[in-house]
Amino acid sequence: KKVVLAYSGGLDTSVILKWIKKTYNCEVITVTCDLGQEEELDGLEEKALTTGATKAYIDDLREEFAKDFIFPMLRAGAIYEGRYLLGTSIARPLIAKRLVDVARAEGAQAVAHGATGKGNDQVRFELTTGVLAPDLRTIAPWREWDFASRTDLLNFAKDNGIPVPSDKKGSDHSMDRNLMHLSFEGGELEDPWNEPSADTYLLTVPVEKAPDVADVVTIDFEHGDPVAIDGEKLSPAALIKKLNTLGGKHGVGRIDMVENRFVGMKSRGVYETPGCTILHIARRDLEGICLDREVMHLRDSLIPRYAEMVYNGFWYAPERKALQAMIDQAQERVTGTVRVKLYKGQAYPLGRKSPNSLYNPKLATFEKDEVYNQADATGFIRLVGLRLRGLGQ
Ligand code: ARG
Ligand code: SIN
Repeated sequence: KKVVLAYSGGLDTSVILKWIKKTYNCEVITVTCDLGQEEELDGLEEKALTTGATKAYIDDLREEFAKDFIFPMLRAGAIYEGRYLLGTSIARPLIAKRLVDVARAEGAQAVAHGATGKGNDQVRFELTTGVLAPDLRTIAPWREWDFASRTDLLNFAKDNGIPVPSDKKGSDHSMDRNLMHLSFEGGELEDPWNEPSADTYLLTVPVEKAPDVADVVTIDFEHGDPVAIDGEKLSPAALIKKLNTLGGKHGVGRIDMVENRFVGMKSRGVYETPGCTILHIARRDLEGICLDREVMHLRDSLIPRYAEMVYNGFWYAPERKALQAMIDQAQERVTGTVRVKLYKGQAYPLGRKSPNSLYNPKLATFEKDEVYNQADATGFIRLVGLRLRGLGQ
């Protein structure tokens, strides 16, 4: 019997590795996906093997993550509950897909993950494996074992020779980092009135420490996707990384909110999404000149639905794919350049241009024109207002 485990090398997934081996008396194969979490991956294979894995996969999926997951989601303008850019949500389907691929290659019967029974991540993992490989079993130790506390877990680690990091520095949050964002939950954040402790944020400076001199960047888009910064072509992952550094320097992309989890409870989340916040603002700005009004408004009305699909784990569901097809068709004409100023926590569009621009200066001008007859507006307003004028009687 073989189980394929999503493994980070941290304490929790190390304990899980040992626990699965003992409980199920099976082989464990670990999979570690590099999604840009900037953790040391050297020595991880060794660590997995000494903790009891029979084989350890370490895969650099950063470009796939950026190109096939983050970019399509950005094209949709996805935002959950008006603020969260879904940086954790979008990573789960890719990790789950990789687990399935390895399970197939290794002839495993089950996949395993370290998400708790209270969160969204378990749902996202398992809806994805469910659609891609309905025959595979899932092992979710957090829902199965009877460790009642963190102390039980630490004791199990000690008894089984798993190194326990001594008093770690920094804040004590549940964190999830990838190319798109860094999220914080738990600790003092569980009281929604508390502000995050000073050592929380890692990617962005506080606005008070942001430089007094702005940076101005141009971003080129093709068919809704960013392709270059200041004229320099970059791969999807490299482009996001570059904007993370720039946005972080100016404190762009911090969000602090209480959100609704799919499983039902409200949860406090603090997020840093510097690069993709800039991309979100810039792409929307470009849409202003490229998109037809009705297409834009229709797409906008569907953003909350699309965001829910991603948040709830329905990435591979037919409804998300159908919506994506409509969105991508609309984004075909979103090609052009946006000039953006980064300053004191904000990204301000300064200018935009596109070969597909629908902006007609002759129509819009306050100066004399030959294309628009102002007298036409009289009848337009009379008919549009017909119903309203009838209401008074
Ligand atoms: N609340 C966010 C979400 O549901 C972040 C979850 C963070 N996950 C984690 N394993 N730390 O997408
Ligand atoms: C977890 O519970 O594993 C993390 C939080 C979440 O999935 O929402």
